[in-house]
Amino acid sequence: QSTLAFIKELPKAELHVHIEGTLEPELKIKLAQRNGVELPQKTIAQIKASYQFNDLASFLAVYYSGMSVLQKEEDFYELAKEYLQRASAQGVRYAEIFFDPQAHTSRGISFETVIKGLLRAIAEAKAEIQADLVMCFLRDFSKESARQTLLAARPFSAQILGVGLDSDEHHNPPLKFMTHFEEAVAQGYHTTMHCDIDQIDSVAHIKQALEVIEVERLDHGTNIIEDLDLVAMVKAKQIGLTVCPLSNGFVCPDMKAPVMKELLHAGVKISVNSDDPAYFNGYIADNYLALAQKYNFTKDELVQIAKNSFTTSWLTAQQKESFL
Ligand code: ADE
Ligand code: ZN
Repeated sequence: QSTLAFIKELPKAELHVHIEGTLEPELKIKLAQRNGVELPQKTIAQIKASYQFNDLASFLAVYYSGMSVLQKEEDFYELAKEYLQRASAQGVRYAEIFFDPQAHTSRGISFETVIKGLLRAIAEAKAEIQADLVMCFLRDFSKESARQTLLAARPFSAQILGVGLDSDEHHNPPLKFMTHFEEAVAQGYHTTMHCDIDQIDSVAHIKQALEVIEVERLDHGTNIIEDLDLVAMVKAKQIGLTVCPLSNGFVCPDMKAPVMKELLHAGVKISVNSDDPAYFNGYIADNYLALAQKYNFTKDELVQIAKNSFTTSWLTAQQKESFL
């Protein structure tokens, strides 16, 4: 059996995927035509050639500009439908999917339009793959904008499993959103947040997220390796780190794979995820495969990572058991 076949058959949960980051060039072109949006690139090859980034900011510029084609409920439905099909084909049994409401409401698209399209796709795919939504605040937007977003989510709070924090981390520390996370917890949401790799204040941000805001998971977060007290803490509290090797590969030559191995063997619950698969050249199985082929992760290690993905998910204990 090939390594890829083994990986695809391994039941996996995906805990770190931005639905807007699954917008493939093909769908981008189709939606641009349907909605009368003029794209700067006309062909799939031209679009792919424009995907050149070497840091978080240069990626985010491309990521946000691509969203201009997402306008109608149907567009969000198709976006999520395509992701769920791809994820299911790669052995994802359960996905906790990020979405960025402010990236759309700031363009005049209603919260309702976005979430209704996503929820319809999730409901339809239920027999193949289970999924939940996690709403992210854009950390480079104002606190007031985050407050409005939490308010706009209220009618849908039963269909949103958690809240996260993403976008440009520089000068936008976790503490900026402390009250929003408190409020989110009070409203029953699970919590996670991005602590992207190798940021100027990575360790300080991780400390704020873990010690002050007390999030349940960290997205990326591999810089905990720089502080052994933090490693001990995430281990003791079984806090999941949702790591994204192919995404890391754009800003760090070794994808943080050696650090992942070290954390894994130290007993830290890391999982492997695709982040923005349409932009980083690969869905979840491609991420597992990169670790196996380039960094000699063994089948046992991959199995442990896949187990971690369920353990650190926000499924109920009973639901987890059905997958493990
Ligand atoms: N938005 C989409 N992907 C992201 C990432 N990896 N980091 C921060 N914000 C993001
Ligand atoms: Zn991310």
